[in-house]
Amino acid sequence: MAKSTLSFVCQNCGAAYNRWQGKCDACGEWNTLAEEDTTGSVPVSIRSKRKGRTFALESLSGKTQDAPRLSSGMGELDRVTGGGFVRGSVLLVGGDPGIGKSTLLTQATSMMARSGHRAVYISGEEAVAQVRLRAERLGLADAPVQLASETSVEDIVSTLSEGAVPRLIVIDSIQTMWTDTVESAPGTVTQVRASAQALIRFAKKTGAAIILVGHVTKDGQIAGPRVVEHMVDAVLSFEGEGSQQFRILRSVKNRFGATDEIGVFEMTGLGLREVTNPSELFLSERDLGSPGTAVFAGIEGTRPVLVELQALVAPTSLGTPRRAVVGWDPSRLSMVLAVLEAHCGVKLSGHDVYLNVAGGLRIQEPAADLAAAAALVSSLVNAPLPTDAVYFGEISLSGAIRPVAQTPARLKEALKLGFGRAILPESARGDAGGDAALSLNSVGNLTTLVAEIA
Ligand code: TYD
Ligand code: MG
Repeated sequence: MAKSTLSFVCQNCGAAYNRWQGKCDACGEWNTLAEEDTTGSVPVSIRSKRKGRTFALESLSGKTQDAPRLSSGMGELDRVTGGGFVRGSVLLVGGDPGIGKSTLLTQATSMMARSGHRAVYISGEEAVAQVRLRAERLGLADAPVQLASETSVEDIVSTLSEGAVPRLIVIDSIQTMWTDTVESAPGTVTQVRASAQALIRFAKKTGAAIILVGHVTKDGQIAGPRVVEHMVDAVLSFEGEGSQQFRILRSVKNRFGATDEIGVFEMTGLGLREVTNPSELFLSERDLGSPGTAVFAGIEGTRPVLVELQALVAPTSLGTPRRAVVGWDPSRLSMVLAVLEAHCGVKLSGHDVYLNVAGGLRIQEPAADLAAAAALVSSLVNAPLPTDAVYFGEISLSGAIRPVAQTPARLKEALKLGFGRAILPESARGDAGGDAALSLNSVGNLTTLVAEIA
C-alpha cells in the first residue's frame, strides 16, 4: 500500500503545504488550510513507469460533429451560454443556497428530455423523492428525465457509459461528489478537483454536455475549488436579492461566447419564468416624480436594458461623509462626485451620498455616468427629473460628456417603453438616426446638465 501522505491544502485555491500555516502564500487567504490525505491524488497508472500507448494524430480539416450547440429550450439560458450547450463542454453554475439553481436546472433538463434528448439529473444533495416533488410543483413530472441520487463519480460514469450518450447531464452539486482515486473526505479541494476532472474527461470523451452546480461561499466565490473554475469551459453565476423575485444569470467565463451577457428570470410559485424584456421589470416599480431618480438606458451584452438609478444626497453628521453604492462601481461614483465638485461648483463634501441601482442589477458601463450625475444633482437640489427622460453618456475628468457605443439600440428601447426624450452626449446625435419620435437633448458638458436641473 502506498505510504499515506498528509498535507495541508488551501480550501480556497488548492495550494498544498507540508506543514500548517495561518495564511496561504498562494492566494493570501487566512485560515483556509485544512489537513488532507493526498495519497493517490495521482492515479496509480500514472505513477507506474509504463510505456505510453500511441494514438492517431488528426488533421484540422477532418469531420466535425453536426449541431455542436443544443438549445436548452429556455431562451434566457441560451443567451448566457452563447446559443446553447456545446457538445462535450462542461459548465459550472454557481450561486447562493436557495437562489434557484436546482429549479433552473430541473427546468432545463425537463425541456431537453421533452424534446427527445437523453437528459440526466444526478442529485448528490436531495433524495429522488425530493427532486420529484420539485418537478411536480413545476408541472414537469411527466418529462422523461433520468433521475438518480448518487455521489460516487465512478458509479455515475459507469452508469452513464451504458446506452445512448446523454446530451445533458446535471450534477447537483460538485461539492457532494467523491472519487475512489483520492482519499480525502468529500467536499475537500482534492476531492472536488479529482471528481470534476473525471467528469470533464467523461464529457470530452463522449460528447455529453455536463452542468456542475457549485455552492458559493459568503464572499461570493464558488466554494473551495477556484481550480474548478479554470478547468471548466464556462462559469455562470446565478444572482439575486433574496427578498426580490428577479434572478440574474451572468456569464463570468465562457470559452464559447461573450461574457457580458445576462439572462433575467423571475421566481414564481411555478418555478423560474423567463423575462424577455427586462427593462419592463426593472422599471415596473418606479417612484414617479420623486427627486433623485434617473432612468439609465444601458446595454447588457447584446441587449438594451433600461434601469432606474436612485440617489440620496443628505447633509452629513460625520467628520468624513459616507459614500455607499449598490450595483455600480464605487470608484466611478467617486469620479463623478469629483467632477461635479471641481467643474460644476456642486459642493458635496458636507453630504453623505448613496447610490442604488434598482432591481438588483449590477451595471459595469461607464455610460451610466450621466444618469448617476443627474440623479445626484436632482437629489441635492430636491428637484425631480422629467419622468419621460432617459440618460446615457460617459463623463470625462474635464467634465465633457463623451459618446458611448450603441446609441440607436438605447434610443429604440426607450421609445419602445414609452419614453419621450433622451439626454445624451452631443456627438451621439449623429448616430441617433432618424428617430424623430424621441426628442433628443444633447449635452456637451456636465455644467450644462447641472444648470438645467438646478
Ligand atoms: P432551489 O432551486 O432549491 O435553490 P438552490 O438549488 O440554488 O439551493 O430553490 C429554492 C428556493 O426557490 C426555495 O426558497 C423555494 C423557491 N421556489 C419557488 O419560489 N418556486 C418554485 O417553483 C420552486 C421550485 C422553488
Ligand atoms: Mg439545490
